[in-house]
Amino acid sequence: MQTGQKHITLRNNIKMPTVGFGTYLIPDEDVQSLVLEAIRAGYRHIDTAEGYGNENGVGLGIKAAIKELAIPREEIFVTTKLYPGNEAWGQTIKNYNSIIESLQASLARLQLDYVDLYLIHAPFAREQRLEQWKALVDLRQQNKVRAIGVSNFSEKHIEEIKATGLPLPDANQIELHPWSQKPGLVSYLEKNDISVIAYSSLVPLSSWRDAEGQSSAKTEQMKAEGADSDSPFKVMARKYGVSEARILLRWAIQKGYAILPKSINVPRIQQNIDLFGFEIDEQDMAAIDKMDRGEGVAWSSGDPTKEA
Ligand SMILES: NC(=O)c1ccc[n+]([C@@H]2O[C@H](COP(=O)([O-])OP(=O)(O)OC[C@H]3O[C@@H](n4cnc5c(N)ncnc54)[C@H](OP(=O)(O)O)[C@@H]3O)[C@@H](O)[C@H]2O)c1
Repeated sequence: MQTGQKHITLRNNIKMPTVGFGTYLIPDEDVQSLVLEAIRAGYRHIDTAEGYGNENGVGLGIKAAIKELAIPREEIFVTTKLYPGNEAWGQTIKNYNSIIESLQASLARLQLDYVDLYLIHAPFAREQRLEQWKALVDLRQQNKVRAIGVSNFSEKHIEEIKATGLPLPDANQIELHPWSQKPGLVSYLEKNDISVIAYSSLVPLSSWRDAEGQSSAKTEQMKAEGADSDSPFKVMARKYGVSEARILLRWAIQKGYAILPKSINVPRIQQNIDLFGFEIDEQDMAAIDKMDRGEGVAWSSGDPTKEA
């Protein structure tokens, strides 16, 4: 296996490992050993969120890796996300003070003194988005977090920040894969030096999140297309002698994005970081460029970059 982990440099010169381990839908009681296995396999970037309910186990996995694998804390890039609250779902929107408390609670669960990247999970707080962003700016100033960013924000949401003169996000974590390429948003982020972190890279796989209760807006038709033995990613997988998952992940890396593959299966965890020993040729990259279908499907409620 050839992992050869690479980095993306965030605007404030902080280095973020390109391949992170995603932990959405991994229960708290299972995530500790999987985080340890991911770090053993070469991952140095772990992605969690207040909303995933697994920060405690993620923190225990990181702690175990520091102890058992003798990896210094500074070599592991840890991201967590503020859950902002959503009035449309009957939730209270977090204000400035409750955000300071939310981060403290996340750090306590993770048993860490700081996180490397703190993100607003989604642009749900229509009126208080800027107040929420100001809290993150201040948390970075106080060295509680090394970098700050957003997730599921559109160009319009970032323009709101720009208009206030507050610092722009270091990164935007968004759903990106061949079926949801968001070319306008990606080019806006690149122009504004906001690093792109792709999530749900594996959506086009027929087996993507097919276990009970892993809801999404993916249709039966999409699942069937992925299962076709001549689907474009199966054809490419045969051509390059790798799995379809590795084609999808390698595509994102060649586009310049960080990625966050999630798996509860150790051989897959190892395979999903083994991406630097082959290259998708220009012709196939161009063919994938033509597969964009628009909005993402990872959220059952629809693509949150469309939030007002
Ligand atoms: N900011 C946001 O709003 C947001 C939203 C969604 C996700 N995320 C982040 O991004 C991460 C990744 O996204 P995701 O969890 O939606 O999906 P993903 O990583 O694209 O795909 C996970 C699915 O693919 C399967 N899988 C993984 N590796 C595989 C392989 N090599 N071969 C075949 N199947 C494979 C997994 O099954 P097994 O587990 O059974 O292997 C699971 O069903 C999340 O865990 C989370 O950290 C963020």
